[in-house]
Amino acid sequence: MKFSLHNMDQNGPRESLDAYLAHIHNVIEKRDFASDEASILAPFDTEYISEVKQLAEDIENPKLKYIVVIGIGGSSLGAKALYSALYEEGKTKEIVWLESVDENNIFRIEKIVEGMESKDECVLIIISKSGKTTETLVNASKVLSVLEEKFNNISDRVIVISDNETPLIKWAEDYHAHTLFIREKIGGRFSVFSPVGLFPLILAGIDIDNIILGAQNAINDSSNNFPQESALAIFDSYKKGHVIHNMFLFNPRLENLGKWYRQLSAESLGKEKDIHNNVVRIDLTPTVAIGSDDLHSMGQLYLSGKDNEITTFVSNENNDSISIPKSSILGPIQYVERKTFCDVKKAILSGTTGAYDEDNLPYFKVSLDGDLAYELGYFMQSLMIQIMLLAHLFEINAFNQPEVEKYKKITRQILEQ
Ligand code: PA5
Repeated sequence: MKFSLHNMDQNGPRESLDAYLAHIHNVIEKRDFASDEASILAPFDTEYISEVKQLAEDIENPKLKYIVVIGIGGSSLGAKALYSALYEEGKTKEIVWLESVDENNIFRIEKIVEGMESKDECVLIIISKSGKTTETLVNASKVLSVLEEKFNNISDRVIVISDNETPLIKWAEDYHAHTLFIREKIGGRFSVFSPVGLFPLILAGIDIDNIILGAQNAINDSSNNFPQESALAIFDSYKKGHVIHNMFLFNPRLENLGKWYRQLSAESLGKEKDIHNNVVRIDLTPTVAIGSDDLHSMGQLYLSGKDNEITTFVSNENNDSISIPKSSILGPIQYVERKTFCDVKKAILSGTTGAYDEDNLPYFKVSLDGDLAYELGYFMQSLMIQIMLLAHLFEINAFNQPEVEKYKKITRQILEQ
């Protein structure tokens, strides 16, 4: 992973950030799973990762065609980001994701189940850290009933991933489903390298080893200064009025990575009060754009002169194999002759950053040009640390989400009436 900073300063309490980084390294050294930052230990939890791999191996069979993953927010976005980025046609198994409550999802599941001859063709993974999220419980109960109607008991095809004392886990144990636990201090949006993110990927046939290695090296590599340098620059820019952070991904396969980061940032940093109970209302607002589609929808706004945004441009260029025909049936397009698709994409990205430079707009450039699985592991782990560092700079708690809990509680009250 390479990164650079453009048109930004980094004024801020660097010493305090260094002290917090030292604390994070201490957590790693001591394997302190009881600390708030425990999520960064997940890729080093090798014994547990082996257990997770073993369960996937036990469940996998030649008939397996459909993996249904039910979960929402932190319980789906990380795996989904890696799955869409690393999906290989004809090699990766299909995952059907059920997040919102939506009738169309159920119609789709009913169609799939109708065409199935054996329950071995599917696996149902239910993921909820709290074990209480309405969307997940509603989706799970419906899909279970559709499957049971056809195959009677399907408990051996069901895996529940949750904290170890939740009502959902208790149900799973009574039902004799398989269970995987999330360590107590690993919160939803930080759980991508725990079984929450890894188990669906392994089952889909994605090789997780390079992802894990990348995530480990983001910590082990002492030259990885992306978390602290980017956190300081974002903090300084925010103080100067850049309240929107746009992740501009120049590869459509990375769109879900942007959505994962959007949640990580919004839920961790969007806090009303700081740790001293002062009202601070941090409104650093993460957005997602796809290059180059969104240049043709949002580009005008981004470059219109309202200087309130920081942008993280992310690119991944590994494939230089598609060339542009010399004598196109469209007639000559001389300026792209002898160029490849990759050349054109790079030129568009450089054209875009050139325009940002002309307007002196602040941005980071991140390139994930090596093995994508490794690079994503490295980048996602670095981003989780960046968010922890930002929370430290803003003096807020990155690990709770009181407002999300508010809506969940009221929803349950309405449904209970
Ligand atoms: O990051 C978080 O904590 C949230 O986004 C949760 O992941 C989300 O609300 C789903 O919660 P749960 O995993 O408890 O079903």
